[in-house]
Amino acid sequence: MKKAFLTGITGQDGSFLAELLLSRGYEVHGLIRRASTFNTGRLDSIYIDPHAPHAHFFLHYGDVSDGGGVRRLLQQVQPDEVYNLAAQSHVKVSFDQAEFTADAVALGTLRMLEAVRNTVESTGKEIRFYQAGSSEMFGASPPPQNEETRFYPRSPYAVSKVSAHWYAVNYREAYGLFIANGILFNHESERRGETFVTRKITRGLTRIHLGLQNKIYLGNLDSRRDWGHAADYVRAMWLMLQQDHPDDYVVATGEAHTVREFLDEAGAILKMDWKKVVELDARYLRPTEVDNLQGDASKARRKLNWRPEVNFQELVRRMVEHDLALARQEKILHESGYGTVVSGYRHA
Ligand code: NAP
Ligand code: GDD
Repeated sequence: MKKAFLTGITGQDGSFLAELLLSRGYEVHGLIRRASTFNTGRLDSIYIDPHAPHAHFFLHYGDVSDGGGVRRLLQQVQPDEVYNLAAQSHVKVSFDQAEFTADAVALGTLRMLEAVRNTVESTGKEIRFYQAGSSEMFGASPPPQNEETRFYPRSPYAVSKVSAHWYAVNYREAYGLFIANGILFNHESERRGETFVTRKITRGLTRIHLGLQNKIYLGNLDSRRDWGHAADYVRAMWLMLQQDHPDDYVVATGEAHTVREFLDEAGAILKMDWKKVVELDARYLRPTEVDNLQGDASKARRKLNWRPEVNFQELVRRMVEHDLALARQEKILHESGYGTVVSGYRHA
């Protein structure tokens, strides 16, 4: 049985990847941060009590800012594959928390690479490493962007991801480690964090539809993103670690839409005129914006035989339907005297 170790397992991608690996017979170990509230909601459907006789799913407390802790965990687990997904992943927040973002994203990756290097050296066992790179690294470079496109990062988050990317390349070349960088374009889902624009829109419009909220406040509606579904993208991560040689790959649908087009699509499903309920709030504008991301994933298609299964229309439909069901539950609970209806608390 292969063992995988995931940082960022409680996030959107971590939860989809953990499901994929369990379905392929892996023993899955995940790093979780101690928090004052439960942060494992996305893992509820796959959680197995570690006391159960045939448990293949284990969570360990840790943080990528704690190098000694992650090194000890890798020595203990001795995984075959490590997926480094942990990050302060919100671009706008990275302008407010630049040092913290660099610590988790750039130095966090370096600490994970050091932990892998030490474990490989002390045990002699091969460990394959996936680094979660981002299309934000291309930033201001015009589309279509592929593996040859120059990095031109436009936020502290993106600069930190570029740094993590080059640490990973350097450790591959210096120590002969199997390290793959995925350069993934935006991918969303029903589990997307609620302060990213797609989920903010689907949560907001569906709540407005049911009278739970009056307005959504957004920033720049003209930026273009290449949006895919997270379940398709974690499959590409896994494929990268199953190859004969480590390499770097762009993962994208090849189709880009503006935020405005996302609103059009979601509004049409709900038969709502979003222009009546969306207002600009300048606090959601970024000091430097990334205007246009559209990926060319021909290398991943050719070498990994990877293709996305969910297109833009299907992605929006799934997210709207999911959030409509969630809003209905919220409404029923409220009308039965349980739960408070909170309006307008979704910042960033
Ligand atoms: P996400 O939902 O924001 O999840 C981030 C994960 O990182 C969470 O599990 C979070 O834990 C964890 N984390 C944050 N800081 C940490 C720290 N210091 N130590 C340990 N864990 C920490 O992000 P995602 O969308 O799943 O993305 C996964 C990775 O892919 C990230 O590295 C992101 O930057 C990158 N990426 C994402 C996209 C995309 O469109 N989704 C595209 C390209 C690249 P908590 O749950 O405790 O907060
Ligand atoms: N979050 C947010 N909130 N974004 C808004 C809003 C708003 O109210 N209004 C407009 N936008 C615009 C942003 O300015 C940006 O141009 C676009 O919507 C997408 O923003 P996000 O959904 O926050 O995603 P992102 O593209 O900045 O970053 C995501 O994708 C990257 C890959 O390209 C994150 O998942 C990153 O972690 C990831 O690396």
